[in-house]
Amino acid sequence: MLYKRTHMCGELRLSDEGSSVVLNGWVAKARSLGSLVFVDIRDKTGITQVTFNEDVPADIHEMAKSLRSEYCIGVKGVVRERSSKNAGIPTGEIEVFATDMVIYSKSETPPIYVRDDDNVDDNLRLKYRYLDLRKNKMQRNLTFRHKVVKCARDYFDEMGFTEVETPILIKPTPEGARDYIVPSRIHNGYFYALPQSPQMFKQLLMVSGTDRYIQIAKCFRDEDLRADRQPEFTQIDLEMSFAGVDDVIEVQEGFLKRVMKEVKGIDIETPFPRMTYAEAMERYGSDKPDTRFDIELIKLNDVFEGCGFGVFTDNLAAGGDIRGICVPGGAHEFSRKKIDKLTSEVKHYGAKSLFWIKEEADGISSSIGKFFSDEELKAVLDKCGAKAGDAVFIVSGTSKVTYDSLGFLRRRIAGILGMLDDNQYNFLWVVDFPMFEKDEEGTIKAMHHPFTQPKLDELYKLDNGDIMSLNANAYDIVLNGVELGGGSVRIHDKELQKKMFEVLGLTEEECQVKFGFLIEAFKYGAPPHAGLAYGLDRLVMLLLGEKSIREVIAFPKNQNAECPVCEAPAPAGEGQLEELGIEVVQQAD
Ligand code: AMO
Repeated sequence: MLYKRTHMCGELRLSDEGSSVVLNGWVAKARSLGSLVFVDIRDKTGITQVTFNEDVPADIHEMAKSLRSEYCIGVKGVVRERSSKNAGIPTGEIEVFATDMVIYSKSETPPIYVRDDDNVDDNLRLKYRYLDLRKNKMQRNLTFRHKVVKCARDYFDEMGFTEVETPILIKPTPEGARDYIVPSRIHNGYFYALPQSPQMFKQLLMVSGTDRYIQIAKCFRDEDLRADRQPEFTQIDLEMSFAGVDDVIEVQEGFLKRVMKEVKGIDIETPFPRMTYAEAMERYGSDKPDTRFDIELIKLNDVFEGCGFGVFTDNLAAGGDIRGICVPGGAHEFSRKKIDKLTSEVKHYGAKSLFWIKEEADGISSSIGKFFSDEELKAVLDKCGAKAGDAVFIVSGTSKVTYDSLGFLRRRIAGILGMLDDNQYNFLWVVDFPMFEKDEEGTIKAMHHPFTQPKLDELYKLDNGDIMSLNANAYDIVLNGVELGGGSVRIHDKELQKKMFEVLGLTEEECQVKFGFLIEAFKYGAPPHAGLAYGLDRLVMLLLGEKSIREVIAFPKNQNAECPVCEAPAPAGEGQLEELGIEVVQQAD
């Protein structure tokens, strides 16, 4: 038997009083008080209280008494005003007096409670994700995500973008992370890669005259997981022909304004501020600065030049830097014990130590007090703009170590001091990224990707030995310290593209193998083009104020890149491996 429902469980209000209604859903709570049985029935929209009294037939009353959490049921009844109202839920002014009921299916005692405030172990939540997703919060998150995607599709449709699907089984992509690979049965010993992004295909679409492309694209990257990283994630991926930096930025600001209005009801101001990569690093120690609070990095090389503290002078002599941040009111807040904890945290970013100077009512104190006079310490405090009660934290090391450590620390401290307002949305473009960076082995890599157009007025740097200072027409959109998306103007000139590959140390043959099809396509009239991709999961996470993208993905992977629901990855069957010509010599534990 299936009841045709008249309302969802979160819909009924006092204005429905007297109506005969039918609800379908799950038992959130059942209480039997003798002749009265109260049942909270839940679906994705909310909860309604259903009351069974002695007026219902005896068998239905018995059935009501047998109800347990998560039974799936249908209820017929009449809406009545509640005598004791529950202001905590939207349906709290009414209850449904049951006249009939059906149990569609019973539930065993669920392994996790279906309650938003259930503090259950994450792996258990992920294993029983279908129960976890019954929670109101999780359903709200899924619906919210759907609305963001719908808004993207609507907006970009209106702006002349065409949604096109690109292949999932492709050749390895050159985007920096490790590829997931898929063995070919037809071509034993050959492999497909899952796309890290649709980058080359969207560029081909520009060559093909598609003009403006969008895709809600699944991407796969075999990299270490973090709160905002999953091995399998989704991009809102975009590309535009005949467009430069300003065109992309204008269209994207229109989208973000619209999405903020439609899904959050918030008016945000455009244009967003733009900051060069160099400025972002110098002021915030990060290429994704959180600008919701004022703590900024201060370079202290000149104040410590020639000082009597060997750690600093040796570092400066070796070409390193010394930078600090001033924390308003930090002198009292940060005891030695708390500073020790912060010190162990900045060590992850390469800092050997975290030095501090505090200006308190009874004078200046410092971890480096014995190497400096009070006047010298005061000079440092002044340089940092510190006032009485403030604390200055200092890191000495390579430029990168000072940026990374203090970039992390300023945000960490802002979190401790409650300076991060989740209701403030500071969108920011970071522009003019360097074209190249060096990896740990000193090998030159493209910072964004090798299809990124260098600043055309800086092309001479490709030949004068100064390529590390060459900047790119690349941009990132940053929200509250998180990189939401990134993109660039692309190279559409095959000669320049070849040159980039050369600089990156790729031989003609390697280029052909890896990107031959793109280079070939550029022979046939490639339009100037530019694009960008948002991390959809990150966008939804931030707009919902969630701390992890797992909260906005229906079936995410756990920290070990496993799917706790279906238990992937799993060994392949013998027959399958044989067909693929694969022999597993060593299996992971
Ligand atoms: P990029 O590599 O910067 O650029 O990726 C774009 C955005 O995708 C999101 N993102 C991720 N989200 C979750 N988990 C991950 N592992 C993950 N990796 C990246 C981020 C990031 O800003 N093809 C280019 C875009 C372009 O040039 O048009 C690209 O993929 O939010």
